[in-house]
Amino acid sequence: MDQKLKETFLKSIESYTNMDKKAAFQGICAQLARINSAYNWVGIYVLRNDKLVLDAYVGEKTEHEQIALGDGLCSLAIVKNEIINEADVLANKKYLACFPETKSELVVPIRSGEKPVGEIDIDSDNKGAFGIEDEEFIQKIADFIGDHFF
Ligand code: SME
Repeated sequence: MDQKLKETFLKSIESYTNMDKKAAFQGICAQLARINSAYNWVGIYVLRNDKLVLDAYVGEKTEHEQIALGDGLCSLAIVKNEIINEADVLANKKYLACFPETKSELVVPIRSGEKPVGEIDIDSDNKGAFGIEDEEFIQKIADFIGDHFF
């Protein structure tokens, strides 16, 4: 984690409220990917009609641009309304594979009030890439998105 980039991003985060939703989501994904080189794929899924729809991402194109609620770790974060931090995706039967390189995944719910409305999804090529610092940081960003865009 690049602490300096992280701080600068957190200080300037309010500037995203001046953008339209799509541009803001894309910008946030890009910044997150820059802040930590272990964040190999960063996406924002939004819940629409019982589907998770990929609104913005940085990294390789995925075939999972829409995920039916119930599938994958992405759904688990919504259904449980909590962070899913999987250190070893291949050991988790719920995992829905996107990229062969992925070893660990962090999914953090975006909430409107208490209700989950989407999520930030991060894939890493490293096993166990995400710790409590990542969870807290990404939750802060997810809360910002929930407060300003939903
Ligand atoms: N791995 C996710 C699917 C989305 S991709 O990581 C982009 C899952 O298990 O739900």
